[in-house]
Amino acid sequence: MIHLRGAAFDVVVDLSHGVPAIVYWGAPIDGPATVTSALDRPLVFGLPDQIAPVSVVPEHAAGFTGRPGLLGHRRRGTHWAPRFEPLDHHLDGNRLVVAAHDPVAALRLTTTIDVADCLVVSTELTNAHESDRYLLDGLTVTLPVAEQLDELLTFSGRWTRELQPERTSWAHGAMTAENRRGRTSHETPSLLFAGTTGFGEWGGEVVGAHLAWSGNHTWLADRLGDGRRYLQLGELLHPGECSLEPGESYRTPDVVAVWSGDGLTSATQRFHRRLRARPEHPERPRPVLVNTWEAVYFDHDLDTLRDLADRAARVGAERFVLDDGWFGSRRDDTSGLGDWVVSPEAHPHGLAPLIEHVTGLGMEFGIWVEPEMVNPDSDLYRAHPEWALVTDGYEPPLGRNQLVLDLARPEAFEHVLGQLDELLGAHDISFVKWDMNRDHIAGSGSDGAAGTHDQTLALYRLLDELRRRHPGVEIESCSSGGARIDHEILRRTDRVWTSDCNDALERQTIQRGASMLVPPELMGAHIGPQRAHTTGRRHGLAFRGATALFGHLGIEWDLRSLGDDDLDAVAEVVALHKRLRPLLHHGDVVRFDTDDAFVAHGVYAPNRTEGVVSFTRMATTASLTPPPLRLPGLDQERTYRVEHVALPYERPGPGRTRPNWWETGLVATGRDLERVGLQLPTLHPETAVLLHLTAT
Ligand code: DGJ
Repeated sequence: MIHLRGAAFDVVVDLSHGVPAIVYWGAPIDGPATVTSALDRPLVFGLPDQIAPVSVVPEHAAGFTGRPGLLGHRRRGTHWAPRFEPLDHHLDGNRLVVAAHDPVAALRLTTTIDVADCLVVSTELTNAHESDRYLLDGLTVTLPVAEQLDELLTFSGRWTRELQPERTSWAHGAMTAENRRGRTSHETPSLLFAGTTGFGEWGGEVVGAHLAWSGNHTWLADRLGDGRRYLQLGELLHPGECSLEPGESYRTPDVVAVWSGDGLTSATQRFHRRLRARPEHPERPRPVLVNTWEAVYFDHDLDTLRDLADRAARVGAERFVLDDGWFGSRRDDTSGLGDWVVSPEAHPHGLAPLIEHVTGLGMEFGIWVEPEMVNPDSDLYRAHPEWALVTDGYEPPLGRNQLVLDLARPEAFEHVLGQLDELLGAHDISFVKWDMNRDHIAGSGSDGAAGTHDQTLALYRLLDELRRRHPGVEIESCSSGGARIDHEILRRTDRVWTSDCNDALERQTIQRGASMLVPPELMGAHIGPQRAHTTGRRHGLAFRGATALFGHLGIEWDLRSLGDDDLDAVAEVVALHKRLRPLLHHGDVVRFDTDDAFVAHGVYAPNRTEGVVSFTRMATTASLTPPPLRLPGLDQERTYRVEHVALPYERPGPGRTRPNWWETGLVATGRDLERVGLQLPTLHPETAVLLHLTAT
């Protein structure tokens, strides 16, 4: 038994079976010996004479009745049910590496279990046979879940509606998701939680697991017939996608897991801490940006863009991002992808006049690219049609008129790397919005086998190499909005584009979902136009501002259409964000449980001296008056001054009066703010109010 003590929870690992088994994962305990004897299970009628452990890679050959962690075989179907024996292990601080082998199947398994803010588990399979290939169908990581955790929180989504929470009871059997889109996906984010009945943001025992991977994946939440529960996450491999020649290995992506004894908010803060601990985590204030997409789309014109940049600077933006449309023949979305050279048609004098204008205004310059793609109507495709990730002999389906470029081909990789290197080397570019807008469909590599696995690794290599060559350039992970939000892409990027939806109402839910995995400083959140382009809804600036404030702020709006008063109002929101930015981008994200008609969340300073809280009415309810908002998680012993933060053009709700503390502020202890709560004023649907808390 190995006892690992993490920052907030303990993990006990049983090494006696070969493959390590996490037998305890929860609140700190006194000794692992308790776990062995206290959790010893009786044998029961109808089941085998030994109880197979829910190990990191559960084995059918040991009698495990759920989905085995390793699926594969050799020629003629042999060695399909391996069984591992212990080999050795090594403990370095809280990092445990365990080797096991199956001498019959000639396979070796090396599992790494690391506990800090999160529990991080991965495993690597090596084909130790001297001459035979091993065909790997799947290698996943399995984590046991305490039987008391009988509710699941999973996420669904689509373009412009990412990370929608779904609660289900987890009584018997399995729930699973399979993602074959070649990207993390809108539809099946690789994130799920299990908790005790009715668990909430501040109550209940909760575990969460995330697969840090940007290609295909699967997750499974299963309850065995004997009552034991487990979560299983891993890469989804297409048939024949991964075959291991003698001596070759396959390593799973990291499974990143959290535990909390006091609800979801503190569980998800652990995911944030892990990202904030990355050596490359951006430390300087996140520059407020203006993005050109919804302002001009493909219509690039130097005077227009300069005008937009002037207004960006006028409202306090610190970065100007030129979106799609600057290169090759890209005047709309039918052509040009693959040709990463400045278009003489769109930018006759190159990008320099615009970049110089932007930097002359004191802003950084950013640019959009989609390097994993190629349009059939492009110079690159005409020269190298064989570089597309397609299956020969079939007409490849298009997505947004484009194909995926096979980056696992060294020549294609070098070509794209060369063009991007040249682009970044020749221009003063500080930020790259890296987009990816179509699924992999029957994407075969040059050998004819499924190519998503190799493509995903090639993407990582490409990003790593570009960062090595251009260390000062920040990169955003965008994929038709938020289809590539995961911890592995965030090892080599500096923010995610959360959604193409800039409608503040939708964003409340989308950002709440994203906040369960990603801290605010990595979550792109833009103030869009009054009438949202993707939904047609209209919202005032106060609501749009209150919503976008809680991320890495941007503006995606044709600021040329605004008069002076409106520009001043936008500048006010930007200034407010900058004032709150140190708190928003370093604090602890907190979410509050409310009726579905409301969304309440905020950020508390780690030392609890300050906080900012947002309260939104999403829809009408039976009562005009919202219920008092309780604020758990503050310092119980401290006294706070709570003040309303006015936003430009904020309008009163349908009440005859407002709570008497509204104009003057309120002074109360952290304990009372949690127990008594705060009565907020009436609000029209689709409006929000902001509160600022300062410890006195
Ligand atoms: C999809 C992205 O999500 C948008 O923000 C925008 O960059 C477009 N692609 C450009 O084609």
